[in-house]
Amino acid sequence: MKIGRITISDRASAGIYADRSGPEIEAVLAGVFAGAQFESVIVPDELPQIAAALRGLADDRGCHLVVTTGGTGVSARDVTPEATRQVLEKELPGFGEMMRAQSFAKVPTAILSRATAGTRGSTLIVNLPGKPTAVRECLEILAPAIREGVAHLRGDDPH
Ligand code: MTE
Repeated sequence: MKIGRITISDRASAGIYADRSGPEIEAVLAGVFAGAQFESVIVPDELPQIAAALRGLADDRGCHLVVTTGGTGVSARDVTPEATRQVLEKELPGFGEMMRAQSFAKVPTAILSRATAGTRGSTLIVNLPGKPTAVRECLEILAPAIREGVAHLRGDDPH
C-alpha cells in the first residue's frame, strides 16, 4: 500500500513555517493502513503545481491513495479543489459533504472548506483542510470510506 500526501501552502513550501499537517496525515493513516509506505510533497497554492503533484503521485509513483491538506477555503489563493477536479476522472462529492456535515457540530467554520475527493485510474484522491486538527478530525470521519474505496479500486472488493 502506497500513500502520497501533499501539503499545499505558500508559507510551508517557502519554509516560513514547518509543515505540521502533512505529518499528521501520515500519523493518522499509519494507524488505518498498517505497513503503508508514504511519499510526501509540499507545493505552493498554485493550480498547475498542485495538479502536477497529484498526477505525479497517482500516475508515476503508483500511489493507491493521495491525500492533500490545505487550500480548500475561500481565500484568493485557495485553489486545491479546482486543481483536484482537473485531474479527477470520477468525483466523490460525499467525502466533502460528510467532512463538512460531521465537523460542523463541533467546528461551525467547517463549511468554509470546499474540499472534494474522487478517483483517477485506480487512485483515490482526497482533499482535507489545512489545520492539523482538521486533518485528524476529517480523516477519522472518512477512514471507513477511504479503506473501502481503496479496496474497491485495488480490486479487493469483498462484496
Ligand atoms: N474542518 C474541521 N474538521 N476542523 C477545522 O478546524 N477548519 C475550517 C474548515 N474545515 C476546520 C475544518 C476552516 S477555519 C477553514 S478556513 C476551512 O476548513 C478551509 O481550510 P483550508 O483553506 O486550510 O483548506
